[in-house]
Amino acid sequence: MTLLYEGDIRDKELVEHLFSTHDIEVVINFTAESHVDRSIEESELFLQTNVLGTQNLLEVAKKHWKLKPQDKYSRSFKEGVKFIQISTDEVYGSLGEVGSFTERTPLAPNSPYSASKASADLLVRAYYETFGIPINITRCSNNYGPYQFPEKLIPLMIHNCLLCKELPIYGDGLQIRDWLHVEDHCRAIDIVLHNGMSGEVYNVGGNNEKTNLELVRLIINYLGQSETLIKHIKDRPGHDRRYAIDSSKIMTQLGWRPHYTFEEGIREIVEWYITHKDWMDHIISGEYDQHYEEMYLKI
Ligand code: TYD
Repeated sequence: MTLLYEGDIRDKELVEHLFSTHDIEVVINFTAESHVDRSIEESELFLQTNVLGTQNLLEVAKKHWKLKPQDKYSRSFKEGVKFIQISTDEVYGSLGEVGSFTERTPLAPNSPYSASKASADLLVRAYYETFGIPINITRCSNNYGPYQFPEKLIPLMIHNCLLCKELPIYGDGLQIRDWLHVEDHCRAIDIVLHNGMSGEVYNVGGNNEKTNLELVRLIINYLGQSETLIKHIKDRPGHDRRYAIDSSKIMTQLGWRPHYTFEEGIREIVEWYITHKDWMDHIISGEYDQHYEEMYLKI
């Protein structure tokens, strides 16, 4: 049986209640305020959710998973428990034209969003080092897939293309991202959950480096639109130039491989958004319109 509770990870009483009423063995913390542009506008919520929310989950999990709860220095935990923190390659900062992020690359976040994710990663690591909670941290490249909110590049461009609206490209559009299909990402997390060595970080990348312009042109072509829709706008402050992930650790140690090629994945996603127009219409409520106007129409 699957139960779904909607709540706020900062809500101590709720998280405590869920741990007290269910036999929770695994926490996979996907929760995050995740949009860089929003973190530039208003960073406090990012610290509250991404950092304090993670600390709240860790604290309650520690209390419920400890074998001797009365012993504050005990480092023995129930069999099979694990805390997985879903992080991002953005904690490593930006790359030049060559090279890629490995798990040993120093953390050098450049936006309030990535700084909040790096802080959460360090807390998770600290709970492993200090208290011995079994943890893993996964750091993925840019995800794409169904149900992605249209504040992100791919759904935003598909949506605007379908409506023949302008396609806003920050700066020269030559920034590079490494795209990972969400199902390949989830397969990686499942493997880390079952086989990852406690305390370890695993990078997960799609090995699909594309400039933003290349990607947007691909979407335009699939949808039979015109490149005249592209509009270069003011660049994002502190815009990271290039991300690229070295996934050799998870591939060689845990046997993970991405299944999707980028061309297959992007074609499927364009089709998905075409056939889920109702979902898109529903999700872009007044709040989205306000965000869109603040981001793009006042520039
Ligand atoms: P985004 O999807 O916001 O992910 P991230 O910032 O986590 O990489 O953006 C991906 C890239 O696309 C990034 O270089 C910023 C750029 N971008 C645009 O050029 N225009 C847009 O409207 C958006 C949302 C992003």
